[in-house]
Amino acid sequence: MLIWKFGLSASSRKKIGPRVLFQWVVVVGIVCVAGWYFVSRTLLFSRTSWLSQVQDPVLSSLEQEIEARKGAKGVFSNLFPVDPASVKQVLFWTSFFGTPDARGTLGAKLFEGCPVRQCAATNDRNQIATSDAVIFHALDISSNNLPGPRRSGQHYIFLIGESPANLAGGARVEKTPEDFFDMTFTYRLDSDVRGHYLYSVPVEKDLTRNFAEGKRKLVAWFVSNCITPGRREEYVKELQKYIPVDVYGKCGPLKCPRNNEAACNDMLNKDYKFYLSFENSICNDYVTEKLTNALHNNVVPIAMNGGNMTIFPDHSYIHVEDFPSARALAEHLQYLDKNDTAYNEYMRWRFDPSQVQSHGVFSPGSSGWCMLCERLHDPAFQGSLPGYRDARQWFLDGGQCRPGPIG
Ligand SMILES: *[C@@H]1O[C@H](CO)[C@@H](O)[C@H](O)[C@H]1NC(C)=O
Ligand SMILES: *[C@@H]1O[C@H](CO)[C@@H](O)[C@H](O)[C@H]1NC(C)=O
Repeated sequence: MLIWKFGLSASSRKKIGPRVLFQWVVVVGIVCVAGWYFVSRTLLFSRTSWLSQVQDPVLSSLEQEIEARKGAKGVFSNLFPVDPASVKQVLFWTSFFGTPDARGTLGAKLFEGCPVRQCAATNDRNQIATSDAVIFHALDISSNNLPGPRRSGQHYIFLIGESPANLAGGARVEKTPEDFFDMTFTYRLDSDVRGHYLYSVPVEKDLTRNFAEGKRKLVAWFVSNCITPGRREEYVKELQKYIPVDVYGKCGPLKCPRNNEAACNDMLNKDYKFYLSFENSICNDYVTEKLTNALHNNVVPIAMNGGNMTIFPDHSYIHVEDFPSARALAEHLQYLDKNDTAYNEYMRWRFDPSQVQSHGVFSPGSSGWCMLCERLHDPAFQGSLPGYRDARQWFLDGGQCRPGPIG
């Protein structure tokens, strides 16, 4: 409006009357104020990020770590002094999903940012005698290519991130000799080392922020695996009888290319209120990035899983098992669609500094490795290992995979 007016008066420049002069002053004033605002915002921003670097608990002393952990949720119960000169060596005996260098994380890199990080990883099998722990990625084990029994004080670790249901379709976990492993490293909460997906979002500072604003669509689902052991696809069909569900990817009409993940997440962020975080299999404790991605993108996850949800913030998700039917869930989503206050209650955890990261002090994705390093140094833990007669069976039996609700 203002620009349009300005254009008009510029074209009738012949006589610069007081009115035109006044309009000039207004425009110049607005430009100055906007410029000042921009500059001060930029400065403020860089100051905040500089500050947050200085306060990074990873760089801090042991005392600060203890302080930080008091508010941490979950995994770690005790703290003990670690000799900085003592480094525990971890050997990858197998490849890791076919990559021999464990996805480029050898050396100290794997443990960077951990509270206890005096550990180093190698894949040089010649170093087995001096390794404190030897890792076998279950999907890469070949039973005719294993080392002899572990020496006393050494750990053989059974590592897997997939659910047992996912192994049925071709992938195998080979049998190993009895009493081969003495540690497990899986997403299961009863593993010796827990490797579950983490989340980490910035604290939301704008207490008046309305997360529903501008979101014109209801539910999105990015999916590439169309027929699953958990039968989530059937639940979605039922849900679609009552509300629209926008299905992107191989199993639906909409496209958002995987190679442009940032753009897809952006769309999720801007347009959608809910995201279907439906796992492909419903097994004890099995929760993946399908849930954490939603938390990372300002959408409310609708969870379908067999997970122990206490590892996520209260009221940060909606779980299908809390509703008697897909229809009841749909009605709740429609209610939230009309009531911004109620919708924003699912975003409240984002304002709470103690809730915005999985465990307070860990960088995303590193928790399992951090826990491993801590375990290897923890004298109390060394004495408490039960050992596994058959870790593979422990994994398969304890998974308790089951069909999901079908609406
Ligand atoms: C979920 O985890 C919490 C904390 O680790 C635990 O106290 C609780 O018993 C678990 N619940 C189930 C059903 O496993
Ligand atoms: C909207 O949600 C708020 C918070 O849950 C609730 O107090 C209020 O009664 C709701 N309004 C309507 C019209 O349902």
